[in-house]
Amino acid sequence: MSLIRLVYASQFAQPFNELDALDIIEVSMVNNRKLDITGVLCYSNHYYLQCLEGCRTEVNRLYRKICLDSRHTEPVILMYQEILHRQFDDWYMGHIPSINISGGTVLKYSKERHFNPYTMTPEAALKFLLELSQINAVL
Ligand SMILES: Cc1cc2nc3c(=O)[nH]c(=O)nc-3n(C[C@H](O)[C@H](O)[C@H](O)COP(=O)(O)O)c2cc1C
Repeated sequence: MSLIRLVYASQFAQPFNELDALDIIEVSMVNNRKLDITGVLCYSNHYYLQCLEGCRTEVNRLYRKICLDSRHTEPVILMYQEILHRQFDDWYMGHIPSINISGGTVLKYSKERHFNPYTMTPEAALKFLLELSQINAVL
């Protein structure tokens, strides 16, 4: 069984409501546990950045389903790689709300202080999520 990591960016489809994000997280935690998929979802400044880790077939299937979700648009895969170990195995779907993302942290991984994952390199996007997980920004 091939273990893979997929990181993608997308944009909010409608004005953002924290409750929408909490709905997504709640459903994701239940579904992802069944599929043994782990990861984190970050949302801020009109954008989502999500990392999914797990069995290749399941991650691909889930990504296709997520792409059809009308709560976001323009999904773009930033990274897709085979891995030996998961980086986010503490969470079936951890969430990183805007309030936990400082401009200083964003600036370390992109050219501006405003979070925009479309402008991040694949490596920077992953390192950004890793740093947030290490500073306990993931709920
Ligand atoms: C940005 C974003 C990320 C999502 N991430 C997940 C996820 O990790 N797992 C999941 O099951 N659903 C996720 N969803 C929700 C799915 O698109 C879909 O609504 C949900 O899986 C439906 O679950 P159900 O088949 O149990 O009704 C996400 C949706 C959005 C907009």
